[in-house]
Amino acid sequence: MKVDGRHFRSIWLEPDGWSVGAIDQRRLPHEFVVARIESVDAVAEAIRGMLVRGAPLIGATAAYGVALAMRADPSDSALDHACAMLMETRPTAVNLKWALDEMQRAVRPLPSAARAGAAYARAGEIVEQDVAINREIGRHGLGLIEAISASRRGEPVNILTHCNAGWLATVDFGTATAPIYLAHDSGIAVHVWVDETRPRNQGASLTAWELGHHGVPHTVIPDNTGGHLMQHGRVDLAIVGTDRVAANGDVCNKIGTYLKALAAHDNRVPFYVALPSPTIDFAIDDGVRQIPIEQRSADEVATMTGRTADGRIETVRVVPEGSPIANYGFDVTPARLVTGLITERGVLKPERAALAGAFPERIAAHHSAPARIG
Ligand code: MRU
Repeated sequence: MKVDGRHFRSIWLEPDGWSVGAIDQRRLPHEFVVARIESVDAVAEAIRGMLVRGAPLIGATAAYGVALAMRADPSDSALDHACAMLMETRPTAVNLKWALDEMQRAVRPLPSAARAGAAYARAGEIVEQDVAINREIGRHGLGLIEAISASRRGEPVNILTHCNAGWLATVDFGTATAPIYLAHDSGIAVHVWVDETRPRNQGASLTAWELGHHGVPHTVIPDNTGGHLMQHGRVDLAIVGTDRVAANGDVCNKIGTYLKALAAHDNRVPFYVALPSPTIDFAIDDGVRQIPIEQRSADEVATMTGRTADGRIETVRVVPEGSPIANYGFDVTPARLVTGLITERGVLKPERAALAGAFPERIAAHHSAPARIG
């Protein structure tokens, strides 16, 4: 996608052919800063500290982490160490495990001398695959927006989204935003309600920034506004991303998604989830009980960071000193509240049979010997 007329992806291989560039998402929307990452330790820190974030981008970054590790030391023990360390960085997005499994499959059978080259090649493929998948998600989701636009006789289609499942959360295009960008680019009038997404404000800081740079009409709303808008017919459909979809169609996404799905169900607003197939976890059959939910630092809730009137970036405390804080990063929306899953192979029912039927090779891979991690 474009930033001030220049094409950017969220992550790339630098011209030196080995180090990795990424947009530092902690600094947006106030500053556009690019980070250069040169070691697997720095990759782990970038994922843990959310310099990069979003399930598909976490996977792509981890893939480059393995490549950097193999460049420094192509031994088995270095591979084990890199994968174990990266796997620990964030627990919920299953794209991380998927990418590490893929990298190990590509690298482990090879002699040491061939490992670094193969790792960079596989990481590059994972990155390109993400872009291609998101294009297809966009194509399939576009049909949903077109149908609503036709029934509204050209009035803007109002789409609610939560968190950032845009191009910053992937390599390019985004998942939930891919159909929106395509619709906008093809002349369909769209308007996006952007949930601010406390505590880290990925909606207010990142989704609004992305949409604004692409010229997509949008309005940022406090997280608790969606239900009110739905009751008053101001939301035509919701499209969100996801960090892990269980085999039964339960969907894990940024905290607060479940409440939006409940409100959508109560108001008969279609609630779609956009996902690339690496986000499906065929090892888990009950999302509510089995998906690990990340708990993050209390500071994310206790403080807010923003730009002061005189241009300084400052962090201020908004919670009384001493009040206990809980910071659950994600929640699970049961499949019964999901209208459909927008995947690269079409819009699917949130059911095991539909997922397994569309991605039989993932089932086969799941039943084959798992790659070793650590
Ligand atoms: O904690 P984050 O910012 O990594 O959470 C991101 C989300 O919840 C996204 O909605 C999800 O990863 C889908 S991204 C295409």
